[in-house]
Amino acid sequence: EKGGYEHFMLKEIHEQPKGLEDTLNKRLKDGNIINLDGINMTKKDIEGFNKVYIVACGTAYHAGLVGKAAIEKMARIPVEVDVASEFRYRDPFVDESTLFIAISQSGETLDTLAALREAKSKGARILSVVNVVGSSVARESDDVFYTWAGPEISVASTKAYTTQLMCMYLLALYMGKEKGTIDGTYYAKVIEELKTIPEKLQHILDKEGDIEKLADIFYKREQVFFIGRGPDSGVAYEGSLKLKEISYINSFAIAAGELKHGTIALIEDDTLVIALATQDALFEKMVSNVEEIKARGARVIAIAKEGNTEIEKKADIVIYIPQCMDELTPLLSVVPLQLFAYFVAKNRGCNIDKPKNLAKSVTVE
Ligand code: F6R
Repeated sequence: EKGGYEHFMLKEIHEQPKGLEDTLNKRLKDGNIINLDGINMTKKDIEGFNKVYIVACGTAYHAGLVGKAAIEKMARIPVEVDVASEFRYRDPFVDESTLFIAISQSGETLDTLAALREAKSKGARILSVVNVVGSSVARESDDVFYTWAGPEISVASTKAYTTQLMCMYLLALYMGKEKGTIDGTYYAKVIEELKTIPEKLQHILDKEGDIEKLADIFYKREQVFFIGRGPDSGVAYEGSLKLKEISYINSFAIAAGELKHGTIALIEDDTLVIALATQDALFEKMVSNVEEIKARGARVIAIAKEGNTEIEKKADIVIYIPQCMDELTPLLSVVPLQLFAYFVAKNRGCNIDKPKNLAKSVTVE
């Protein structure tokens, strides 16, 4: 059942090219037209939304952080992302012109479901991004945008996350096109790039041995930091969660620009920092963040796009991902982090598919 893999997690990491291709193909018609068949969202509806809330837990929440960046950039609507357990108790500003997006792999997470009910009672339009067909979140939503990840068995979510990202990009792109906030050239470019993602992701998987070697070097660490800017900060949170939940290493993620407002105090000689530097637009800023922490003795592994070799002068080790638009890098940059967490946990002898204290679906508060 594990298809020759030692763990479901590794199998599911390897299923990502297929999951992304399926999620994309379900929504593409005639090559590059996004069809939201089954989702009731007219141009008038989209123009009427003055705010979007994305609400989820854990990894799905991290997909929401990337989704926020995509929707704000492409559809120019303010987006708030919140964890479900906070949203439901804070009397949020929701009304008929709010689009509420719940993201959930299982569709059974209690807090997410309760948040959805809260938003619904206030009149919001409810769209959910869900993997399990017919789940509670799917049933209670006005519309469902399914991820086609296939069943996810490992407690640590991997392919559900990347397919959630794919849905968020398609949604943002669709909304932007209908609203006229992006032009046809940009739209076509993003679609063409999305089509290349499965192959590029496969390319990263083909070199997983490089990540395994890094895990062999660093698996005994007691703490790891993850930093990034823009879409990379969302990926930093996800990489950190993956590592802590399966390897039990104390890991911490922070937006790189926030480091110097306190957390940099924790950086000392040989502290391991994983720095995501995939954004061309923010590359120089990340280079200076890496300089700052190197000056305090940090050991830095950077993730950058192929060709951006300037980072080699600053970081100790660089992992390259294939070239791709800044907006879409999270689909690729998370993969080395998933693999790093996996191989570190394996070296530490952890129960990877069923980490202690965790359940696949959290149906209690
Ligand atoms: C982490 C993980 C959890 C889930 C969270 C939400 O790897 O799997 O953080 O993402 O419990 O679960 P769903 O998406 O089923 O609502």
